[in-house]
Amino acid sequence: MLSRSLSVSLAVLTCVAGLAIGLAGCRSLPPSKPASEWTPEEARGAQVYQQDCARCHYPTTTQGLHGPGLQAITKIKAMPSGAPPTDERMTVAILHGHGTMPGTAIPDDQLNDLLAYLHTL
Ligand code: HEC
Repeated sequence: MLSRSLSVSLAVLTCVAGLAIGLAGCRSLPPSKPASEWTPEEARGAQVYQQDCARCHYPTTTQGLHGPGLQAITKIKAMPSGAPPTDERMTVAILHGHGTMPGTAIPDDQLNDLLAYLHTL
């Protein structure tokens, strides 16, 4: 009898702990790479971002501006649309637009720099 109630309360405890860890995991995103550690490619990408994306997307939070904040965009399981944040998907969204986001014509080399930068967020 005693052991049964013990195992039930253990199960409840495990569940609560799991829930707490799960929730904390949802809230805390992996940290961005500090600017002081950017490669030349990532630094160039940051400039492209400033020029073509910053007016609509915050890079350091997931809070929305005109579009969703892009902190940790490549590290999360799914982008706001539900699509996985692969370079291919992001490239299509960037070049051709997505929903209310307009497409931006970005030359290949700058696009590669931009993608490298997006991975630092
Ligand atoms: C004029 C404003 C605007 C500009 C400029 C802009 N975006 Fe967006 N972006 C949006 C909006 C609005 C959405 C949400 C679109 C929707 O889901 O309908 C979005 C969505 C996204 C998404 C999420 C796509 C998804 O599948 O959920 C990514 C990634 C993104 N933008 C990256 C970029 C990058 C990188 C740039 C710079 C090249 C950029 N955006 C430029 C407005 C903008």
